[in-house]
Amino acid sequence: MNFSGSRILLLLTCVLTLPACNDEAQDTHPDQPVTHRRQLFKQFTRTLEPMGMVARDRLPFNRTEFLASARDLQQLAGKPWSLFTPDSNYPPTHAKPEVWLKPFEFKAAQQALQDKASALAALAREGSLDDLKAAVNDLQRSCKSCHDQFRNDS
Ligand code: HEC
Repeated sequence: MNFSGSRILLLLTCVLTLPACNDEAQDTHPDQPVTHRRQLFKQFTRTLEPMGMVARDRLPFNRTEFLASARDLQQLAGKPWSLFTPDSNYPPTHAKPEVWLKPFEFKAAQQALQDKASALAALAREGSLDDLKAAVNDLQRSCKSCHDQFRNDS
């Protein structure tokens, strides 16, 4: 086998046996709440990304597309929280113990996100581009503020 052939094989092996290629613990919980909430958070990022690029003038503003993303994010904003069950603080989670130790603060941070996401979706219908940019920044601050309190880096 030539060099690039063996590289491709190695890559394929990694994809097929993913846990063997990083040092993260596997989610062995029968309902896999950690895996499922992390998938939702990844969707947060994917949904927010085009709006973030509009806010930084890296993508032209298209109201129809922006509105669709804003509505998707509003829907998503309520979803991960019920997956933080009392028995779901185990590796590979990146959640801090504060999620379970400070439930009222955690709840307030969820509410802040949902409020910002609703505000953005409402504004997206006819708000000015400047107002939308400000609302995107506001929303991103609520992601960061919760992560600072409740998520470990990496
Ligand atoms: C109320 C708190 C809170 C808010 C608000 C929040 N997050 Fe998170 N986020 C978390 C916690 C806690 C985790 C760690 C989850 C885990 O590993 O179990 C996390 C994890 C993530 C991850 C990593 C997923 C992975 O693969 O491990 C991404 C990406 C992410 N959040 C994006 C966002 C974005 C984008 C927003 C804003 C639109 C946001 N989050 C808002 C609490 C929050």
